[in-house]
Amino acid sequence: MSAQIKAPEGAPFARILATGSFRPARVVTNEEVCENIDSSDEWIRERSGITERRWAGDDETVATMSAAAAEKALAAAGITPDQIDVILIATCTHPYQTPSAASEVAAMIGAPTAAAMDVSAACAGFAYGLAMAQDMVRGGSATYVLLIGAEKLSAWTDKYDRSTAFIFADGAGAVVVGPSQTPAISPVVWGGDGNQLQAINMTQNWLEFKENGFDTFPAISMNGQQVFRWAVSEMARVCRESLEAAGITADDLDAFIPHQANNRITDALIRALGLPESIPVARDIVTTGNTSAASIPLAMDRMLASGEIPHGGNALLVGFGAGLVFASQVVTLP
Ligand code: UT7
Repeated sequence: MSAQIKAPEGAPFARILATGSFRPARVVTNEEVCENIDSSDEWIRERSGITERRWAGDDETVATMSAAAAEKALAAAGITPDQIDVILIATCTHPYQTPSAASEVAAMIGAPTAAAMDVSAACAGFAYGLAMAQDMVRGGSATYVLLIGAEKLSAWTDKYDRSTAFIFADGAGAVVVGPSQTPAISPVVWGGDGNQLQAINMTQNWLEFKENGFDTFPAISMNGQQVFRWAVSEMARVCRESLEAAGITADDLDAFIPHQANNRITDALIRALGLPESIPVARDIVTTGNTSAASIPLAMDRMLASGEIPHGGNALLVGFGAGLVFASQVVTLP
């Protein structure tokens, strides 16, 4: 008989230990966006909630923004780079096919020996990554996971496409996930609808770009109405299932932090969930725009820093986007 091999042994539970964020300095107003599209400040505010957003400069990349957010999260967690076992970066705008943004960041922050990979789940990427991080910590393949949501969507948005130009923006949010003696991240509720693959897409892929003589740079295209309808009808169910999986009700929440896609989607979810008015809701989109995988950790970091939501409270997270894919969980706030 062969010798018995060992299996990994993990922590009883996992938790978010700390958050950190990076917002580019450049503020882009609705007026500036409207220089290129037939729209107005009033329309953009009314239909999305956005008043301004941040766009990264030429020297700010997914990797540099990630590293800046990560350094703050690590300092707040009291974790040194050499203690990180895994770096996960949720992003869909890292400009290299390979190596990953996570490998670039590993070198940048002084954690070159950490396992590193990117998570491609668009606006659900942070919630996907959080599910993976919790499984790694509990499964024994990591003690500390550095999870970052980071996007430079301005580089992949056609500034003349009025269905996307006003909505997408840039930034990075990071969390450190580590061991816990008590439950602090609920089971994930995740899935997708692959039949709606075309709802958010690229105008062309890299090979088509080459075949077409490097003419029109690939940009994100979106059927906004289709995504809006799906988000409003399906994400309420997902949130309900997530609360049930966590064993709590909407009344037990101290924060609701949905992906910052559109304030009207957030409003519809609040109504559908019957969320009490006293519960703080993330509205980071107003001054940040839609930063895809970065939007949940950016909003969480800001709400914690301002004292709007309590350390140790329960927050319902839900991410949703291209694929179409979604993921939701309840977390104990760091
Ligand atoms: O983060 C990843 C997931 N993404 C999302 O969750 C995005 C979900 N979708 C949305 O947030 C919304 O669909 C948008 C904010 C993108 C668009 O808002 P909407 O209310 O769905 O606009 P619409 O496409 O239904 O267009 C309504 C009207 C149309 O005019 P008519 O036909 O009513 O005369 C459009 O032609 O608004 C017009 N329109 C615009 N007008 C001014 C469309 N885009 C613009 C614009 N400025 N930028």
